[in-house]
Amino acid sequence: MTYSEFYRRSIADPSAFWAEEAKRIDWHTPFTQVLDDSKPPFARWFVGGTTNLCHNAVDRWLPTQADKPALIFVSTETDEERILTIADLHREIQRMAAVMQTLGVVRGDRVLIYMPMVPEAVIAMLACARIGAIHSVVFGGFASMSLGSRIEDATPRLIISADGGSRAGKVVPYKPLLDEAIRLSAHKPSAVLMINRGLTPFSSEPGRDHDYTALRASHLDAQVPVVWLASTDTSYILYTSGTTGRPKGVQRDVGGYAVALASSMKHIYCGNPGETYFSTSDIGWVVGHSYIVYGPLIGGMATLMYEGTPVRPDAGILWQLVERFKVTVMFSAPTAIRVLKKHDAQWLSRYDLSSLRSLFLAGEPLDEPTSSWISEGLGKPIIDNYWQTETGWPILTVAHGIDKTPTRLGSPGLPMYGFDVRLLDENTGQALGPNEKGVIAIAQPLPPGCMQTVWGDDDRFVKTYFSSIPGQQVYSTFDWGVRDSDGYYFILGRTDDVINVAGHRLGTREIEESINSHPAVAECAVVGVADPLKGQVAIGFAVLRDPTAAASSADRLALEGAVLAVVNQQLGAIARPARVYFVNLLPKTRSGKVLRRSIQAVCEGRDPGVLTTIEDASALTALREALVG
Ligand code: PRX
Repeated sequence: MTYSEFYRRSIADPSAFWAEEAKRIDWHTPFTQVLDDSKPPFARWFVGGTTNLCHNAVDRWLPTQADKPALIFVSTETDEERILTIADLHREIQRMAAVMQTLGVVRGDRVLIYMPMVPEAVIAMLACARIGAIHSVVFGGFASMSLGSRIEDATPRLIISADGGSRAGKVVPYKPLLDEAIRLSAHKPSAVLMINRGLTPFSSEPGRDHDYTALRASHLDAQVPVVWLASTDTSYILYTSGTTGRPKGVQRDVGGYAVALASSMKHIYCGNPGETYFSTSDIGWVVGHSYIVYGPLIGGMATLMYEGTPVRPDAGILWQLVERFKVTVMFSAPTAIRVLKKHDAQWLSRYDLSSLRSLFLAGEPLDEPTSSWISEGLGKPIIDNYWQTETGWPILTVAHGIDKTPTRLGSPGLPMYGFDVRLLDENTGQALGPNEKGVIAIAQPLPPGCMQTVWGDDDRFVKTYFSSIPGQQVYSTFDWGVRDSDGYYFILGRTDDVINVAGHRLGTREIEESINSHPAVAECAVVGVADPLKGQVAIGFAVLRDPTAAASSADRLALEGAVLAVVNQQLGAIARPARVYFVNLLPKTRSGKVLRRSIQAVCEGRDPGVLTTIEDASALTALREALVG
């Protein structure tokens, strides 16, 4: 079958199509209805069916590959290596699940996981899935305020954390940030479970904090059966940034997610049971959820979990791992490749990469020079894929499991099966033709695996995602795009205030709120500005309460340092702008809206155009002057 025929079937008759794909996973009770879309835009998949993600990821593979590696952990930060077979992983998950139960966790409870890239993080996620607890993993690079707002929203009974992580040889303590986050949050967890790696000392709160090693020791023989969940039950919440300062809890189901991942492993990633999958992402992001943890394991593959950077101990480390563990499918982000590009291309040909079939890149635009450099250096196909935390798996790419549709430089590819992708005019909602720029939207129903709702806020789900295109209730990706005459899409950046720094999605509003909390700042604007390495970096412009506070360049430097330190402490280094400039006023419309796109244009040296609505045009001149110092 050609891909276009496969795709057509998925759109013409989603129920028949997905009923077939659903055979890729184990069901405890078969579903009675493939799709319930009686309450649009909500789509409930495989209604009446019961299944379990942990069963499909682990137990299912016990009879055939108990002694095969399931979780391969390599840390070049701590020089550790651990290989857990399916049987080992099965045992460890039950130990963790038993400990969680002793701490009072029951089905439906939230468990927040704030962890570095260590096996216990994956074990904790799968233990939650096993007993029907809802995990919410928060990226370890986030600091106390980001973490606190997520604790408050998810109201976890238990938080699982560690003493620290390590980045480029530097230990990053987690516990003080966690303690501060709990202090900031109105909700308090009843227990905190600490994985002590022995990296850095930390203080414990008696009665609340527990040591995992000690508790695990009393549950070595634990047998915790899988809890069969409704397909439409919630498996996890993953927070992501949007237009407001308040992060959104993307809520995912059980059955739809399992089917979507199993299907993508087959048709898109072409991974087979017994092989090794290597994603360089982090469990704190959606790529980590789908393609470090659940996807590979559900597909019967070993997953390689790597704590470290792509250039330590040298720029060959990723390829050395590919050779050693015979990786067949690899997943990374363009920024990682641009980092490697600063090093000798010889590193790409130093190891035996014969096992590797393709390298998938996602999360940010893949520029053509980077794509060509890595493709030539490795001699392997590079496959761009475009998707979002909300969708859980690719919206646009090529499905080489179906046919060998060629890739096209600069384009992530074609709409994936199940995604009825439309290119629409933002003002009229009209469908656009080839080479016309519009908003990338997806007609209902969203396929299996996509977000079910915003955690605790159905209304926000509908208002945020399904109400921005005039005249129709379609899902907006908030990305601009164009399509060529062969149907290949090209992504042209976000329509909202979300920026993408090194493949990490950040909301400019969150950063603005953090900058505004510095007592010297009256107001500010943060924009994403093109950067050759990271894709984009955040740049801030702040108006001071007392402009004389930044009169001299020494004052400006000191104040900038102080403002950046606030962001660092509240949100984490990942959200810290590259620069904060001080100006006397921000370019705004007469109705007081900050002209972020004009600010961005000026920062990138582009012409902001004729701004008929600007209140005071001198604000742009002030901006230019601030930029040149
Ligand atoms: O703007 C798009 C960009 O990243 C956003 C989604 O980020 P996140 O929720 O973190 O999910 C990442 C999952 C891979 C999108 O709205 N983006 C993602 N992939 C691409 C991309 N932009 C261009 N090309 C891509 N391949």
